[in-house]
Amino acid sequence: MTATIIDGKAFAEKVRGQVAAHVARLKADHGITPGLAVVLVGEDPASQVYVRSKGKQTVEVGMASFEHKLPADTAEADLVALVQRLNADPEVHGILVQLPLPSHLNSDLVINTIDPAKDVDGFHISNVGLLGTGQKAMVPCTPLGCLMLLRDHLGSLSGLNAVVVGRSNIVGKPMAQLLLGDSCTVTIAHSRTKDLPAVCRAADILVAAVGRPEMVKGDWVKPGATVIDVGINRVERDGKTKLVGDVDFASAAAVAGAITPVPGGVGPMTIACLLANTLTACCRANGLAEPEGLTA
Ligand code: GUN
Repeated sequence: MTATIIDGKAFAEKVRGQVAAHVARLKADHGITPGLAVVLVGEDPASQVYVRSKGKQTVEVGMASFEHKLPADTAEADLVALVQRLNADPEVHGILVQLPLPSHLNSDLVINTIDPAKDVDGFHISNVGLLGTGQKAMVPCTPLGCLMLLRDHLGSLSGLNAVVVGRSNIVGKPMAQLLLGDSCTVTIAHSRTKDLPAVCRAADILVAAVGRPEMVKGDWVKPGATVIDVGINRVERDGKTKLVGDVDFASAAAVAGAITPVPGGVGPMTIACLLANTLTACCRANGLAEPEGLTA
């Protein structure tokens, strides 16, 4: 079998188009412009690239983008004060504090200062609890993007066996909650799981989010399964830097029914879902109908 390649780049473009159309209607009918504030502390090069890309795409869908760049030695009290100002700002519907923060700053404290209704990352403890209890939450962007790709490819996920490899707060745990919400039978596996290949082979849906280059091999994949690769790992090959996922693409694609590539799979969905979450937050803040198909 040769797997269908799930084109996350094209799907993300479609999501951005839906967001842009909804934003245009909000402006025309209600005079409301959704706004996203991104806070970057320090000069981590990878974070700078992400933040630039977020700002550019925010403007492209017609939203207002507010960028706050603070020096690496910013005091925690000053960062908390900025977040509180953004919480109170009616033009800001979404707030994202880029992680990782410099080590002298307490990330949990800063994230939990964000108004949960504006927490477009879905990292605030209230949103974690709401998601865990099946209530309306802001949902972390990467797992939301994976869910959208799965629903688009498979339709109903009900009754399918889903295995999530990885137990991070940002991807693994919320991914498992979302799959459970769509009535999958869910296993969270991780580095200590006994006979990980056998656990993975039981999966109709296999989500790899471990941060280990090409760990999931073709003989870990059930024939016909849908494989979602969340990994983005830089490796040196033949003297060049190459991006690879957590799945060994060549061997897995020979067995799977469908698979996301790296790059061009899950990656582009993350910012698209950040924009979708900002739109959702704006609609909720104004008591307006939420965009269809862009929430969990
Ligand atoms: N750093 C890398 N990915 C993310 C993300 O999704 N959200 C935030 N806030 N920081 C990140």
